[in-house]
Amino acid sequence: MTIATQEIPSDGTIRWGIVGTGRIARRFAQGLAHVPHAQLTALWSRRAEPAITFAGEFGGEVCASFDALLASGIHALYIATVQDSHADYAIAALQAGLHVLCEKPATINQPQLERVLDAARAAQRLFMEAMKPPFYPLYRKLRAHLDAEPIGAVGLVRAGCSVPGVPDDHPSLSFEHAGGALLDIGIYEMFLAVDWLGAPLEVQTLGRLGATGVDTFASLNSQHEGGIAQLFCGLDLHGKGDALLMAKGGHVTIHEPWWNPSRATIRYTDGRVVELDEPFEGGGLNYETAHFCELIRAGQMESPVMPHDKSLHMIAMADAARAALGLKFAGE
Ligand SMILES: NC(=O)c1ccc[n+]([C@@H]2O[C@H](COP(=O)([O-])OP(=O)(O)OC[C@H]3O[C@@H](n4cnc5c(N)ncnc54)[C@H](OP(=O)(O)O)[C@@H]3O)[C@@H](O)[C@H]2O)c1
Repeated sequence: MTIATQEIPSDGTIRWGIVGTGRIARRFAQGLAHVPHAQLTALWSRRAEPAITFAGEFGGEVCASFDALLASGIHALYIATVQDSHADYAIAALQAGLHVLCEKPATINQPQLERVLDAARAAQRLFMEAMKPPFYPLYRKLRAHLDAEPIGAVGLVRAGCSVPGVPDDHPSLSFEHAGGALLDIGIYEMFLAVDWLGAPLEVQTLGRLGATGVDTFASLNSQHEGGIAQLFCGLDLHGKGDALLMAKGGHVTIHEPWWNPSRATIRYTDGRVVELDEPFEGGGLNYETAHFCELIRAGQMESPVMPHDKSLHMIAMADAARAALGLKFAGE
């Protein structure tokens, strides 16, 4: 296949396309309005009607097919479909010469992710999993603050979120679309563990499967290069908590909802307490999108904030947890 290279115009404007026009695509499109020099120019979804409504609200040309979207002159594709379809869309887009920002989980298992990353390397295009927390102003401020006034190496990460009452037809509960708490919610916690503790070495999991065959609750203890993580995720109990990062010199509480973070408290062993308060604008997805646009302009193939290895470590944890629960998706 010939790889098209779309020139970036002199003002640096990145032309975006979206595949899938559901809930998260709306939030992405709202956020895009807060990203300088970025515009939604094309979109496609399986069903024409939601795509036409979406374009009426947010702009962009509705393409007649996914191939037409790939050939529409966009620089970057945002993948906002259900997760069992991410790998195929990502590989096709990379092979067509596009940069790809792909919703979480990037893929449903590690072998799929390795194929996507191979395609990105072969095409020399940027691929990033849309893992939003590290791009929020609070998270960046926290990192900068801990660099300037350290608590020492983080040795324990504790985080969890469980949201009951998800409608029966929601993709989170769909076996066909590779739903379940681990891939839907747990992947954020796996990110937090990997981001502060490094590669996972061992994952111990307890949990249960629900009526649709996907996991509805899981509790993980994982050993990483840098320490231990205690994580939970669920779709059948109610519990949204703060995230805790513990070190020798103190601990950090990233207040709930830490996956859309805006407040953190740092308590030092010498008694100092530092409160960070960093509101976000634009719904929050705009920060990862702005970062992605900057990487395209700089000719980068990988994000230093959300590099490929982090996605690989996260999906390896999810694979290990699913194996412990005996949950296999189609083709596995
Ligand atoms: N970053 C975040 O904060 C965040 C939050 C929520 C979800 N997500 C992720 O975003 C993705 C989408 O979630 P959502 O909540 O937006 O779901 P959603 O509202 O149900 O939208 C799913 C979209 O996928 C399309 N779709 C469904 N089955 C498909 C298939 N077999 N092939 C191609 N397209 C298909 C749907 O098209 P039709 O209209 O034709 O059915 C719809 O456009 C998931 O991977 C989820 O984990 C991320």
